[in-house]
Amino acid sequence: MLELKNITHQFHTDKPVLQQVSLQVKPGTFVAVVGRSGAGKTTLLKLCNGMVKPQQGSVWVDGQCLSQCRGEALRRLQQKIAVIYQDFCLVPESTVLQNVLNGALYRTAFWRVVTGMFPAEEIRRAKAALEKVGLADKADAVTSALSGGEKQRTAIARALMQQAQIVLADEPVASLDPVTADQILSLLKQLQREKKLTVIMNSHNTQQAKQYAERIIGLKQGRIVKDADASLWGDRDFAEVYGGRDG
Ligand SMILES: Nc1ncnc2c1ncn2[C@@H]1O[C@H](COP(=O)(O)OP(=O)(O)O)[C@@H](O)[C@H]1O
Ligand SMILES: [Mg+2]
Repeated sequence: MLELKNITHQFHTDKPVLQQVSLQVKPGTFVAVVGRSGAGKTTLLKLCNGMVKPQQGSVWVDGQCLSQCRGEALRRLQQKIAVIYQDFCLVPESTVLQNVLNGALYRTAFWRVVTGMFPAEEIRRAKAALEKVGLADKADAVTSALSGGEKQRTAIARALMQQAQIVLADEPVASLDPVTADQILSLLKQLQREKKLTVIMNSHNTQQAKQYAERIIGLKQGRIVKDADASLWGDRDFAEVYGGRDG
C-alpha cells in the first residue's frame, strides 16, 4: 500500500506546488495522474519514492513512513519502487544487458559492481527480464543504438530486475510515436497484471489514461480535483482538469 497523507509542498516560490494532497493506492492497481504541465505531477511521483521530502504531510509505503526514513532504511524502501522516465535514464554507452543488471545493483556486492562480474543467477534473471519485454536478441547491443521503444523496454526490464512492487512512470511514452506508445503501455499493463504491480503513471494524454488505468487522478494547480475509477471520467471531467490558467 502506498499512501500520501495531507501533503503540502512548495519549492522556493510563494505558491505551493502541491496542496493538501491525500491518496491511497491499493497494491496491484494501475493509476494515472493527469494534469497540465506544471500541475505538480512529477513532484507527486518524486514524493512517492522519497526523492522529494514533503514540507507538510507524510508518505507511507507498506506501513512505513518514507518521508522520515534515512540512510539504509530509506534505501530498503526505495528498492520496492522503480521509476520509468520519459527520457529512459539508461547508460547509453553500456549494453542493454548491463543496463538491466543495474536494476540489481542494490543487492550486489560492491566488488562485483566495479568489476562488472555479476553472479550467473543475476545474468540469468536479466536475460529473462529482456525476454519478457521482447528484447532477448538485443542483450549485447549498445543501448544508444536502440530505438525509443526499445530503450523504454530496456527500462521496464530494469524495473523487473529490481523486483520492485511499485512502478512510477513519469510520462513514459511522451517521447514515442503513437503506435510504439501503445505497444509500451500494453506491455506495462500486461506486466502489471501478471506480477500484480502497482503502477502510477503521469500522463497528459487523457485517452491513454482512460485506456490503460483503472483509476484516474486529476491534478490542477497542485490540488486533486477528481479522483475516480477511469470509467467515471468523461470529456467534461478532463476539460475541467485542463481548463483555466496554467498550474
Ligand atoms: N526542483 C524544483 N525547484 C523549484 N521549482 C520546481 C522544482 N520542481 C518543480 N518545480 C515547480 O513546481 C511546479 C510543478 O512542477 P512539476 O511537478 O514538474 O509539474 P508537472 O510534472 O505536472 O509538469 C512547476 O511550477 C515547477 O516549475
Ligand atoms: Mg512532469
